[in-house]
Amino acid sequence: TQPGVLAGVNIVISAGPTREPLDPVRYITNRSSGKMGYALAAAALSSGANVTLVSGPVSLPVPAGAKLIPVETALQMYDAVITHSRTADIYIGAAAVADYRPQQLAERKIKKGDDTSNIPLAKNPDIITAVANLQPKPLVVGFAAETDDLENYAKHKLQSKNLDLIAANWVGQTEGGFESDRNALQVFWPGGQQILPMTDKNTLAAQLLKLIAEKLHEKNPV
Ligand code: C5P
Repeated sequence: TQPGVLAGVNIVISAGPTREPLDPVRYITNRSSGKMGYALAAAALSSGANVTLVSGPVSLPVPAGAKLIPVETALQMYDAVITHSRTADIYIGAAAVADYRPQQLAERKIKKGDDTSNIPLAKNPDIITAVANLQPKPLVVGFAAETDDLENYAKHKLQSKNLDLIAANWVGQTEGGFESDRNALQVFWPGGQQILPMTDKNTLAAQLLKLIAEKLHEKNPV
């Protein structure tokens, strides 16, 4: 992305995993390093955007200039994302949100002898779908990490979640995906697609952001 191409644009990015507590010492989570979301935040800042980074627990430095909103659970992430997306031009949902949370949070540590062979779960809200239903709707960009049938799942999510763009990547391959510093993406939007070949996540973030900026300018021509 060229410097200035997103000057003054408000971008909300969610990144990292969420943590759904079972008791004071245990939680359910997803695999996610947060690297892609943080790389996108850094790329957006260098192109002049105002960046709000709603982040689950990760061990990454916060890109200088980003407004960090740290969260743990999916419900906290939902509240922070919705609040900030109301005034956003772009929402990028790069977080690995836990689909379910334990229905109850035990006040004390669950003991081995306790009857815990079943953990009742409650479904978490789909954050990106809620953003896509806001009025006015920001440009909404999602991710899809898939182990099989990437193209079909990604296209289906693009439509069912009412997204403007979806970046899909293979997981469980020898290269790319979780924890890795490298990745490749297949990007879909209504009526088009583009492959961004395997490279480091910073280069990839800049390439993806360039596509996102094009979509924003198509949506809001000057
Ligand atoms: O349905 P799936 O989880 O594969 O969709 C991935 C996309 O949906 C990602 O952009 C992710 O951040 C978003 N998502 C969300 N809220 C959820 C689950 C997924 O925003 N509860």
